Amino acid sequence: MEHTRRNKIVDLLKSKDFGSEVIVKGWVRAKRGSKYVNFIALNDGSVIHHLQVVAEVANFDENLLKSVTNGSCIAVKGILVESKGQGQSVEIQARHIEIYGTADQETYPLQTKEHGWEFLRGIAHLRPRTNTFGAVLRIRHAMSFAIHKYFNDHGFYYIHTPIITGSDAEGAGAMFRVTTLDDKNPPLLPDGHVDYAQDFFGKETNLTVSGQLEAELGAMALSLVYTFGPTFRAENSNTPRHLAEFWMIEPEMAFYDIVDDMDLAEDFLKYLMQYALDHCHDDLEFLNKVNEMQDNELIDRLKQVVGGTFERLTYTEAIEILKASGQTWEYPVDWGTDLQAEHERYLVEKHFGKPVILTGYPKDIKAFYMKMNEDGKTVRAMDVLFPKIGEIIGGSQREENLDALLGRIHEMNIPEKDVWWYLDTRKFGTAPHAGFGLGFERLILFVTGMSNIRDVIPFPRTPKNAEF
Ligand code: 4AD
Ligand code: MG
Repeated sequence: MEHTRRNKIVDLLKSKDFGSEVIVKGWVRAKRGSKYVNFIALNDGSVIHHLQVVAEVANFDENLLKSVTNGSCIAVKGILVESKGQGQSVEIQARHIEIYGTADQETYPLQTKEHGWEFLRGIAHLRPRTNTFGAVLRIRHAMSFAIHKYFNDHGFYYIHTPIITGSDAEGAGAMFRVTTLDDKNPPLLPDGHVDYAQDFFGKETNLTVSGQLEAELGAMALSLVYTFGPTFRAENSNTPRHLAEFWMIEPEMAFYDIVDDMDLAEDFLKYLMQYALDHCHDDLEFLNKVNEMQDNELIDRLKQVVGGTFERLTYTEAIEILKASGQTWEYPVDWGTDLQAEHERYLVEKHFGKPVILTGYPKDIKAFYMKMNEDGKTVRAMDVLFPKIGEIIGGSQREENLDALLGRIHEMNIPEKDVWWYLDTRKFGTAPHAGFGLGFERLILFVTGMSNIRDVIPFPRTPKNAEF
């Protein structure tokens, strides 16, 4: 069968070109039928829906039809006709079927019955062939595209920040070391420590936890920049919201203060929700019905975010609300301690019933680069908290004053030699600026209504798990 021409199922399902000859290629999701006719549900990934292929048994070799099983890959040439069956508008009357790849029914792991999420994680190489993961992957694509479109349309430049880094100034989490030294016999210093001067880069290097510090360098020349890349954190966090490898979007804006930063974050998130509503309709409809929560509220939640305004308050005000709530917490609420997911979700889901932006966090629980408030105790941080997710964005106005920044660096025992290049931006033409980081998978969790972050990235990396 011709290899170049293929009609995508997404186009055929909208077509009214009845009687025309078409070629479809895809994976069989189900086959049923009688002695006389087989109905094959075919999916090519272009859309959540399957195309029904009707094969009259008499017109085909018996063995060929037997090989058309769940999971096999086939090409079908046939005639597009209006469907008399329920649930579909068109179908294909098959004239010719070619089998690209069979799938042994004894060993093919994806049966038509429902599978548990944990089982599907064990077959992450095949789970894109399920309806749910197909939908998640298409939405993931659409959100990536929308992110680039938003920033491009708003005059931001995409800057590629390094993945291998020689600094751990951010302190956002434990890091994964990158080395080519012989692990059995590494060169040692007299004190017994590994001599990284002899390593590939001539110093100790790790996978980055964030592209922010380098994005700031870009913003000090191009004004508006963003990064969108993988980041790595070696924390032993086995939660439904943490990955060891996740993607982050980090815009960085010269001449923005903390309010501009919040305005951008809110506008950006609303744009992404609206984009999903506009472009991912069929996948959202599907997830709305079948997502794990089965709450049928996914689309409503997206619309609520787009239609409402985010509640803005300070950390200190939030602590007062949490203390007065009468709730019993797993983690106690005290001014100066970091908020846990239970606190964040209480504020968002119970108290305000909408997304919340918290500002003015205690300086001791935030990074060195955040701009100090006049009180000397809190910094111009902002975290955006979302229903069902908790923290989806973390950001801040940056400390642009060299002396103030040096003070923080010394307080936190960060070696100046590790960040000399960062400090240079404060020496040469410093400017007020701000930025934030959006966790891409947390965004996808919210937009798809999935409840475990391992199910919104194709191949999750978590403690003790780097298969595929
Ligand atoms: O709050 P974080 O640690 O902020 C930064 O890294 C800053 N450098 C961002 C900036 O200002 N440019 O991380 C930002 C976001 C979090 O709000 C969360 O959505 C996500 O990244 N995130 C994770 N997502 C999945 N797994 C993890 N282990 C995550 N850690 C953070
Ligand atoms: Mg954070």
